[in-house]
Amino acid sequence: VPASPPSPRRVVTVPDERWLDLWPDGTSPLDVVLWRMDDDLPSGALPAGGTGPDLVVLPYMDAGAALPRLRTIDGLAVVQTLTAGYDDVLPHLPQDVTLCTAAGVHDASTAELAVGLAIAALRGFGDFARAQTEGAWRSGTRPALADRRVLLLGGAGSVGGAIADRFAPFEVGLTRVASRARDDERGHVHGVDELPALLPAHDVVVLAVPLTDATRGVVDAAFLAALPDGALIVNVARGPVVVTDALVAEVASGRLLAALDVTDPEPLPADHPLWRAPGVLISPHVGGDTTAFPPRARRLLREQLGRWATGEPLANVVAGPRR
Ligand SMILES: NC(=O)c1ccc[n+]([C@@H]2O[C@H](COP(=O)([O-])OP(=O)(O)OC[C@H]3O[C@@H](n4cnc5c(N)ncnc54)[C@H](OP(=O)(O)O)[C@@H]3O)[C@@H](O)[C@H]2O)c1
Repeated sequence: VPASPPSPRRVVTVPDERWLDLWPDGTSPLDVVLWRMDDDLPSGALPAGGTGPDLVVLPYMDAGAALPRLRTIDGLAVVQTLTAGYDDVLPHLPQDVTLCTAAGVHDASTAELAVGLAIAALRGFGDFARAQTEGAWRSGTRPALADRRVLLLGGAGSVGGAIADRFAPFEVGLTRVASRARDDERGHVHGVDELPALLPAHDVVVLAVPLTDATRGVVDAAFLAALPDGALIVNVARGPVVVTDALVAEVASGRLLAALDVTDPEPLPADHPLWRAPGVLISPHVGGDTTAFPPRARRLLREQLGRWATGEPLANVVAGPRR
């Protein structure tokens, strides 16, 4: 009986050297090849006799330039993001290609930023930093986070759950809202249809929803007008969840405060009115970009690529066929 030819090694690509050694002990079940996706896949990148890549891992931040390349990859089966959000990938996802996210990887660091932004905005850290550059001792009474009524939109999600857990010790009243009402392990979840009745009774709104057709622009002039004077909007979701002009109008008048990790447009141009509006604190989309990212992303990639190699169902599938 003639020996069957060795089956070709399957190739997957990663966008960064740090993911090349997911199996440093040499037991890798796949060939893991570096492709930053800022140029065509180098012709010599595929090992002799190898097939693929059938799975590509997108760059973490600034994946925008890489996305149009997805349609150029013959035999592509799976796209794996390193972000939890995937609204930017969907328009570029070829038919019959599975999209998987890094859901969970950014929960801890995004949640601590959400709580940090809320405290910093209420207590006036921005004013303190500006006064410090002048050597000015400017004190005064500020709102505490304690006793604030916090509404968490997306509060039943992966990031939202982590935010809820981190608000718990701060003695706030927490209301979680998601797409539909139900009870879960953290208690009651309100449906989005209840927002008009809930908003007037909340001092802080934290946004942790994905950007979809249903959430785009949900925080519009009417949403903001329903909030009491002095209320704070914290956005760690995606910029277009908020109608920027409506927010600018409310913060410019000094009626509302905002703490934004994400903006629309993003990056925010230097002359944008949000930069200089009173009561606005801006962080440059750094919710997940911390020391917490590499070890969690490594765990995710090793588990996910391991599943892909052995034919187990993939995790975090959000679009395309289940594999
Ligand atoms: N700033 C950053 O660096 C950063 C980092 C990580 C993530 N994010 C953003 O956070 C988003 C959420 O991530 P995740 O992993 O927590 O997603 P997830 O687990 O899918 O949770 C999403 C939550 O939003 C709710 N939701 C969806 N559509 C809604 C609607 N129309 N009205 C009200 N609630 C709605 C969901 O409600 P149901 O439970 O009822 O479906 C769920 O509670 C990501 O898509 C990303 O854009 C930002």
